Amino acid sequence: MVKVAPSILSADFCNLERDIRRVSSADWLHVDVMDGMFVPNLTIGVPVVESIRRHTDMFLDVHLMIDKPARFIQQFAKAGADLLSVHLEADHPAHIADALRAMEDCGVKKAVALRPITSASAVLPYLGQVDMVLVMTVEPGFGGQKFMEHQLDTIREVRALIDKYDPSCQLEVDGGVGPANAQTVIDAGATVLVAGSAVYGAEDPAAAIAALRG
Ligand code: DX5
Ligand code: ZN
Repeated sequence: MVKVAPSILSADFCNLERDIRRVSSADWLHVDVMDGMFVPNLTIGVPVVESIRRHTDMFLDVHLMIDKPARFIQQFAKAGADLLSVHLEADHPAHIADALRAMEDCGVKKAVALRPITSASAVLPYLGQVDMVLVMTVEPGFGGQKFMEHQLDTIREVRALIDKYDPSCQLEVDGGVGPANAQTVIDAGATVLVAGSAVYGAEDPAAAIAALRG
């Protein structure tokens, strides 16, 4: 069954503990880290992940939208992340390899993420060494944007590559996912759905999570 990972980007940061509890029926918790450089927005950093870890046992799926992510892998791993995603566009391939090696050394799960501009084939060198591929279906930076329909092709292409080279690899889809398109995204090959506004904007987040699972 597909996993649902609510994004706390749409939570009330003054009531984060309450808002994490509200989504405790979900599979993972998606944490969006932004540096104001890789994306035109700033969100949260290592100390907040540390605090979240103290208050929940949920699997922490930490999406690093930061330049040169190898610099921060150890700190986020120590803070309690269970999985770290680094963007292929955020550094030279040799440094992305450094970041993945650091994740391996720290014992966290490893993922590479693709902006909408990046083609599916970019994941090829990483299949076999990562636990997950994250396909963005909005430009990273903000919650509440519209799902880019043309990214369904990228999801299908990544799914085909995963099936061929690394069938146990998860495929996470992030951006504009809600009850109206969740089934289409699952049919295209996603195994993990990130949802921020669709979960936190719902009157009953637990029901929204159940609806996303289909
Ligand atoms: C966007 C973030 C997403 C975002 C998703 O840069 O990576 O995780 O929170 O929010 P929704 O589901 O509202 O598009
Ligand atoms: Zn995200």
